[in-house]
Amino acid sequence: MSVAVDGPAARIVVALDVDELDQAVALARRLSGRVGWLKVGLELFTREGPRAVAAIAEHAPVFLDLKLHDIPTTVARSVASVARLDAGLLTVHASGGPTMLRAAADAAGEASGGRLRLLAVTVLTSTSDDELAAMGCDGAEVQVPRLAAMAIASGIDGLVCAPVDLGRVRAAVGSDALVVTPGIRAQASDSDDHARAMSASAAVRAGADLLVIGRPITRADDPVAAVEAIVATLA
Ligand code: C5P
Repeated sequence: MSVAVDGPAARIVVALDVDELDQAVALARRLSGRVGWLKVGLELFTREGPRAVAAIAEHAPVFLDLKLHDIPTTVARSVASVARLDAGLLTVHASGGPTMLRAAADAAGEASGGRLRLLAVTVLTSTSDDELAAMGCDGAEVQVPRLAAMAIASGIDGLVCAPVDLGRVRAAVGSDALVVTPGIRAQASDSDDHARAMSASAAVRAGADLLVIGRPITRADDPVAAVEAIVATLA
């Protein structure tokens, strides 16, 4: 059984972005009881499959980041399959549109009885406004809150957005929706590939409920100390 965590540590989702299950389980074991969630991404899931979810779920609630985007029937059936695994959060792409999002939400409700909650990814942080324009879309400032409001209206539980968009997303969806952001760094100079990183405390002030943090914890010499340092800034 995974360990539930209280207080500010419950906001932290550690991204286990490794492709070997052994490495992921070793990290999960160290972080068990210290963070709210562990995120299993596409790399690990495509390599190891459902057994990765089962192995990580022994240590913490699992956030399965598959970013589903397909025809409504296929997404609904895939969501129902995930509902049979021990995951509590699953991502879909908001750009799949209202019919796909509604089908996903209905499938999660029917197959899991509310145990599996869905998050819609608005615009990937790697997508520039020039790329959005090439796809016929408005810039992120308009597109992100538009997709966020559409996803919540379609029955999705929450959103994933970049730190810079937190204020606009929170304003678009109100206080009930779960809002999740990656791109958390102690210092802007450590931003890795994030265009605009934010500190954990600033992201919470801007409206984030959950903070997805990967490399600052997983690549630290002491991942537990790295978690504790971040949690201290949220207390
Ligand atoms: O950068 P970090 O290792 O903290 O990334 C944690 C998560 O943030 C990744 O699993 C990915 O989902 C997301 N990410 C992002 N944009 C980036 C890099 C990572 O949204 N440029």
